[in-house]
This record gives sequence, structure tokens and C-alpha cells, in this order.
Amino acid sequence: MRWSVTGGRESGQRFFRPCHQAVPARTGPDAPSRTLPGMAEHPTHHDAARPAGGGTRPADSDVRPDADDDARAFRELLRGLRVWEAELPAFDPARAPAEPLPLFRRWLREAAEAGVPEPHTMTLATADAAGDPSVRTLMLHDADERGWHFASHRGSRKGRELAARPRAALGFYWAAVGRQVRIRGTVTAAGPEESAADLHRRSPGALAAALVGRQSEVLGSTGELARASDAAWERARREPDAPVPSWTLYVLRAEEVEFFQGDARRRHVRLNYRYGGGCWWRELLWP
Ligand SMILES: Cc1cc2nc3c(=O)[nH]c(=O)nc-3n(C[C@H](O)[C@H](O)[C@H](O)COP(=O)(O)O)c2cc1C
Repeated sequence: MRWSVTGGRESGQRFFRPCHQAVPARTGPDAPSRTLPGMAEHPTHHDAARPAGGGTRPADSDVRPDADDDARAFRELLRGLRVWEAELPAFDPARAPAEPLPLFRRWLREAAEAGVPEPHTMTLATADAAGDPSVRTLMLHDADERGWHFASHRGSRKGRELAARPRAALGFYWAAVGRQVRIRGTVTAAGPEESAADLHRRSPGALAAALVGRQSEVLGSTGELARASDAAWERARREPDAPVPSWTLYVLRAEEVEFFQGDARRRHVRLNYRYGGGCWWRELLWP
């Protein structure tokens, strides 16, 4: 059985309803090689929002009675959550350095000191050849004069997208200090030696994860992953320099870096650095 969100005929409200139609086929390079039984029985609302056509109209008795309560409770939860209510650091943009890198390093260090969990994790946005965007979380490996470093498999979605269109954006959000940084630029893939050296400097877990490989391919079963992961951990233990040819270090050379300091009175400070004519230009942005 599939669940969809459909418009209620009388009230104009939206209800969850079971959807009795074929699972729409995914197309493109990420299309699964086969449909999992679980997916056919419990597809997401997103599947049903773009029906492949056909199927029968569900009966009204199929409407889940608790759906409205769930939706109301969810909206109340969202309205009750707050941002920028902690005591936040001041940021004087007039005292900011001429280049963004020292400020980025300082803000990351201050986020770590303020207890932000995993401040080195970031969102990476890429787009495919048609311009369709994707985001995901990644670890920052370094930030230096060359740019912001991260690593992944060349054959993953992000890897394929970066090969076709080497432009990307990074986003950091450090809630405890009310700070956001976003960075945009061109991405270059490092060579195999530098990529391998970066991987082998990391933890055995990072090597084992990289050895598993096949990132972003459709997984047939969790058992398959468990077997591959056990073998990868064993190999990482035996062979700490094991090669992972698809593992690639990427460096994003920034052209724009924006620092956002949140403020309880919503008088947020936004300082944007733009690279042009061989130097960095600074400008303030309205929040
Ligand atoms: C906290 C966190 C850190 C992650 N770090 C990495 C990373 O450094 N490299 C990576 O390839 N995937 C990392 N992932 C997994 C990615 O978010 C993503 O699921 C995976 O790279 C596949 O993305 P893609 O299909 O868009 O290529 C991380 C996920 C989380 C939640």
C-alpha cells in the first residue's frame, strides 16, 4: 500500500490517503536496478506526489484519522522552537581581516570552543547538468590558501556532478554562536597521490568506509552492506595503506565567502567577501 497527500473534496484540507498505483519508475543515472519490496509497500509521499498515471481512486474510509492531529502537533512543535535566543558573540565587521580565510579559521575554532558539536561538518551543494541541485553533509578536511578541502568517491552523485560541472557551495551553521558561513567557488579534484595521502592520514573507520565503496549506488539489502563493511574493516586493519582508487580529495577555491552573525534583535551582521581583480572585496549585506 502507498500513502499520498491529496486534497480533501469538501474542506479544502489535505489528507493522507493510501495510493493504489504503480511505483513511478526512477530514471537517470541514479535509477535503481530493481525495486525493493519495502519501497513498493511503503513509498514516500514524494513518490505519490508525482504519480506515474493509472491506479484507482482511494475510498474516503482509507483516510488516516490521526493525520490532522499529527500535522497540528508538528506545526506547534515548529512554532515553539527558537533561534538566536542564547547569548551570542558580537561581530564588528570593521575589524574583520582583509581576507576570509583567517576569519573562517577563527570562527570554526570559536565554534569548537563554544561546544558546537562537529563544527567541521558542512553542507555541500552541487548541481547536475540540468541544473537540478543536491545537498549533503560532508567533513571539512582542511582550509588553506588553496581553498576548502573535502573528500568523497568520484563515482558518487556529487562526484559525477562535480566532474560535469565543477562549481559548488558549502554551508556551515554553528547554532551555539549563531553563526553561518557560506562559500561558493570552483572545485578541483586532487591527484591520486594527494587523495590517497589524505585518506591514509585519517582514522581506520574512514579508510574502512572508503573501502566499502559503491557510494550512492542502490543497495540490494542491509546484509550485503554488513558483509562488505566487515571485509573492509578487516582489510583496513591488515593494510592501513590500502588503496581506494575512487576516493578523491577535492578543493573548492572560493570566489565568495559570506559570514553571518545572528543577533537576538534580528539585526544580523552579514559580511560578504568577493574575489575580483586579484584581491578580496568586502561588503555588508542587508539581513
Ligand atoms: C556528519 C556526516 C559526515 C559525512 N562526511 C562525509 C564525507 O566526508 N565524505 C563523503 O563522501 N560522505 C560523507 N557523508 C555522507 C554524505 O552526506 C552523503 O550521504 C554521501 O556522500 C552520498 O552523497 P551523494 O549521493 O550526494 O554523492 C557524511 C554524512 C554525515 C551525516
